[in-house]
Amino acid sequence: MSASAVLGTTETKHPSHIIDDQGAVTDIVLDAMSRAPNPRLREVMAAFVRHMHAFAREVRLTEDEFELGIDVLNRIGQATNDTHNEGILFSDAIGFSTLVCLLNNGQNGATETAAALLGPFWRMNSPETENGGSIIRSETPGPALFADCRITDPGGQPLADVEVDVWQASPVGLYENQDPAQAEMNLRGKFRTDADGRIRFRSVKPAGYPVPTDGPVGDLLRAQERHPYRPAHLHFLAYKPGFKTLITQVFVDDDQHLESDVVFGVTRHLIGDFQEGTGTAPARDVSAPWYRLNYAFVMEKGEAKLPIPPIR
Ligand code: BEZ
Ligand code: FE
Repeated sequence: MSASAVLGTTETKHPSHIIDDQGAVTDIVLDAMSRAPNPRLREVMAAFVRHMHAFAREVRLTEDEFELGIDVLNRIGQATNDTHNEGILFSDAIGFSTLVCLLNNGQNGATETAAALLGPFWRMNSPETENGGSIIRSETPGPALFADCRITDPGGQPLADVEVDVWQASPVGLYENQDPAQAEMNLRGKFRTDADGRIRFRSVKPAGYPVPTDGPVGDLLRAQERHPYRPAHLHFLAYKPGFKTLITQVFVDDDQHLESDVVFGVTRHLIGDFQEGTGTAPARDVSAPWYRLNYAFVMEKGEAKLPIPPIR
């Protein structure tokens, strides 16, 4: 009895996969993978192998470089845990996350989009906060910010009942999950748009901050003589059944790193108009300077799906 009969598999005649020389490797690997029943897996893996092999040929990858690359890959995994996602950070730092975002939004890359990369710091279950409420949950430095954002459909009609997560780093340069001095969920909130498609909230004007540089991504940035800063921004994730989940950021217009975001997240569309407030402040405890942000987002029709949270 043949081995395949014993194993209950159907035996098909394959071409030999014995490798004669380097020029033969790619086609043999592609052949080995060509019977995957899932057509999308077949397509993606075939292209991945073709491009990886072409890359090694183009740069004539040395064995030392190969070892280094595998070590980086392993260190990215080892540096990732419930509170830190080095894999996303790496993808962000080589512009891959922004590329994938822009390929998949704005009518699949055909038009302008309000979407931007998610980054590694979105958390599920942000505290539900009433419209007009504050996301400052422990003492936080920085000038007060009053944000008023409106969400419409592509025809300009306001979208009510959109669930909107908002999150930002403290002006000390850290998200609450990186900083024991901040309260749990400080500068995070979940809002719901009103009948006019609006959410309003109080926070502090964001400041720029460096991405974490104590892992392999930091090593790469230093080796490339790149600064680690993100321009100041607010993150948003808008969710409503029938619409493509909108993940985005709005950037502070006068930030010194606006033109050189370390993770390539800035598009012209996402530069906000942070206006310094004049006259009476909107709350008694606020003193000058304070700021207003008005911003309008458009959600595309599509599937409402939440991303896998990068951290817990
Ligand atoms: C963020 O804005 O939260 C972020 C995005 C990419 C890399 C690191 C941080
Ligand atoms: Fe951020």
